[in-house]
Amino acid sequence: MKIEFYRHNLTQEDKDSCQKVLDSLFLTTGETVKTFESKFAVFMGSKYAVTVNSCTAALHLALAYFGIGKGDEVITTPMTFIATANTIEYCGATPVFADVEPHTGNIDASKIEELITPKTKAIVPVHLYGQMCDMKKIREIADKHGLKIIEDAAHCIEGKRDGIKPGQLGDMACYSFYATKNLACGEGGAITCNDEDMYDWLLKARQHGMSKSAADRYSVRYQHYDMELLGFKYNLSNIAASLLIHQLDRLEDYLHQKELIATRFNEGFSSNAFIKTPAVLADSKHARHLYTIWVAPGKRDLYMQKMQEAGIGIAVNFRVVHLMHFYKEKYGYKKGILPVSELIGDSTITIPFYPKLSDQEIEYLIAKVNEIVIA
Ligand SMILES: Cc1ncc(COP(=O)(O)O)c(C=O)c1O
Repeated sequence: MKIEFYRHNLTQEDKDSCQKVLDSLFLTTGETVKTFESKFAVFMGSKYAVTVNSCTAALHLALAYFGIGKGDEVITTPMTFIATANTIEYCGATPVFADVEPHTGNIDASKIEELITPKTKAIVPVHLYGQMCDMKKIREIADKHGLKIIEDAAHCIEGKRDGIKPGQLGDMACYSFYATKNLACGEGGAITCNDEDMYDWLLKARQHGMSKSAADRYSVRYQHYDMELLGFKYNLSNIAASLLIHQLDRLEDYLHQKELIATRFNEGFSSNAFIKTPAVLADSKHARHLYTIWVAPGKRDLYMQKMQEAGIGIAVNFRVVHLMHFYKEKYGYKKGILPVSELIGDSTITIPFYPKLSDQEIEYLIAKVNEIVIA
């Protein structure tokens, strides 16, 4: 049997929506993007949403809005995709890594304060796998020290914790619509915020700082634009937005289906003493982006090889960022400085997890993974 790592959820409804854009005059950022942004802001319970062409772009814009630059420090987690730290580097600032909680893999809020220096400007928590960090505690720390919070919610659109969604306690939250995400259009992203000045700035900064977008310029008759700030080319196209609009309506249903699959995986692996899974906290609604198992670190790569031989698509989320060549070289990091993250980074295997998994595939996955992870 061959089980792909991921299969998207696009339906005829999405294809029709995309076809409408393809048959229209306007392929780039226009009305379809605006429609999606309004719906997304409502879904997230935030005042504003601005789409961009990746979560990487979203994180970069958010950091840039707060003027984070050379000499500044930003506290984040090493248990994330490299984009989180890279965007801090893009700004000329230094990522400072806090270790994570052993049971969830999320940034350990109790380890943040000891890393704060006069250079610290912001905290970038990552809602790993779809479960939110302890935002209440992180907000308290940020307020006490006058820091901004930019949430990396690439994994977490549907999540909630203590009654709070991403973007509701942070100053901005950044999302990904990358090919394998719960809400996917190939490449795409968004930022939510609740402040009108931020919103206006983001709209300009995603399109070179221009005072008028292409849609504004061509909607009635040509109008000159000015360049008000140094922005970037980060806008999302109508083509991409057309694929997201109807998927958003189906997102909670997909989440329910993934919840049922997660329950079957949990039960299927519960009697295997060599498989651990990240804890799902009682007060949290998990967005169920990724299903990851934690196995003996010395054997992880062998198990991955065997799973692939058995036709199972797998991924690693994530090997720790601070031990990537670039960061090791630049900052002289050594193995052992962030032991909890490093252990997770050496133990983790992500298995296929999407609504289109059939009963037979789920059963095969459980049986094969149990057969392979044996000591
Ligand atoms: C935690 C995290 N942050 C940021 C990103 C970057 O997202 P994008 O690929 O949309 O730039 C990813 C991508 O997978 C991610 O997993």
